[in-house]
Amino acid sequence: MRTPSRGWAWVVGATLLTATAPAFAGAEEGRPIYVAKCQACHGASGKGDGPAARALPKPPRDFTSAEFWSSTTDDAVKTVVRQGLPGTIMRGFPMPDDQADNLLAYLRSLAENPAPKP
Ligand code: HEC
Repeated sequence: MRTPSRGWAWVVGATLLTATAPAFAGAEEGRPIYVAKCQACHGASGKGDGPAARALPKPPRDFTSAEFWSSTTDDAVKTVVRQGLPGTIMRGFPMPDDQADNLLAYLRSLAENPAPKP
């Protein structure tokens, strides 16, 4: 007997999975930017424990901390990311708006899911 519906069930299942996975729109797109530019200092989990952080005079922010997010705003974070914090090793990373939004979504997703994603 032919079972043509099987393939469709798989496609629908996979679509549902990808549709529900990202809790923050843009986080998936923001991840590679974070890995390439931020992870060395801020750490894979966002706790500020990247390999380069040990050499820093002051540890980077802990992005998994709810306290950090309640003490700042989306705009403030995006400004720091693009312009840097004067007088610290946190330099600016100029990038277009959409990339900054995606990166912000990824940073926020770190707080929502403290365990590193596979
Ligand atoms: C060379 C190491 C380094 C890299 C690379 C780096 N950071 Fe930082 N970052 C720091 C340090 C250190 C601080 C804390 C500075 C301080 O307050 O002394 C910081 C602070 C911050 C803050 C906190 C601002 C606040 O409101 O207190 C944000 C947000 C941030 N970084 C985002 C990023 C993002 C996003 C990237 C990648 C695009 C990145 N950083 C790359 C070292 C780094």
